[in-house]
Amino acid sequence: MTVRGEQMKLILLGAPGAGKGTQAQKLVKRFKIPQISTGDLLRAAVASGTDLGRHANEYMTAGKLVPDGIVIGLIQERLKEDDCKNGFILDGFPRTIAQAEKLKDITDIDAVVNVDVDTSILVERLTGRRTCKNCNAVFHTVFNPPKEEGVCDACGGELYQRADDNEETVRNRIDTYNKNTAPLIYYYKDSGKLRNVDGRGGIDGIFQNILKVVKTVS
Ligand code: AP5
Ligand code: MG
Repeated sequence: MTVRGEQMKLILLGAPGAGKGTQAQKLVKRFKIPQISTGDLLRAAVASGTDLGRHANEYMTAGKLVPDGIVIGLIQERLKEDDCKNGFILDGFPRTIAQAEKLKDITDIDAVVNVDVDTSILVERLTGRRTCKNCNAVFHTVFNPPKEEGVCDACGGELYQRADDNEETVRNRIDTYNKNTAPLIYYYKDSGKLRNVDGRGGIDGIFQNILKVVKTVS
């Protein structure tokens, strides 16, 4: 079984704005395993002003992928941490075939869920997104508003708009996804571990569908 008690190693695939982060945060609560978002790890490096962060930021603001070597290094270190021993949810990694091949050397994955959304709705989702500075919880000004404007429901932190959530960068990110990351759907299809979930509709309904499909992967 994929879901052994509370253990699970899961990849969430999907275009920018598909809802990977939103669903990962619900899975964290359900399975008590960490969300590992390479986007969040990179934004933390940018915020702390490290050389790595400065280098990564050039790619992120252009809507391009950060070089594989940098991202793989971050993931290798993160997966060694204690909280990953019962499983984890990979959100935004892997994003290239080279990253997927490297991940195969590092660990076995139980299930890959592709959150499938037509690209026409992604710009609207991303330009209205608000993210918590403190805990990275994700909201939307219209589709998933916080109880109090500008304040995170989960921790009371300040909400901000990500630098790459402007229309021009969003369109570049979608192009990058189509070119570099969408091929992973076919890569994982061959492994028998891939499940597609319709990413349109309500957040809770999508979550229930994710729970259903992960149980079908053996
Ligand atoms: P990353 O932070 O991973 O961004 P992304 O892949 O572009 O994905 P998003 O976080 O934008 O979307 P999401 O699917 O998480 O959607 P969310 O749940 O927030 O990466 C950023 C950058 O870092 C990359 O561009 C790249 O430069 C670099 N990077 C990261 N990983 C890398 C890697 N492995 N290799 C190389 N470079 C890497 O939802 C979006 C919005 O929609 C929210 O406002 C939410 O409230 C709303 N929403 C969610 N679900 C619904 C719904 N069902 N209905 C209506 N609204 C919804
Ligand atoms: Mg995200």
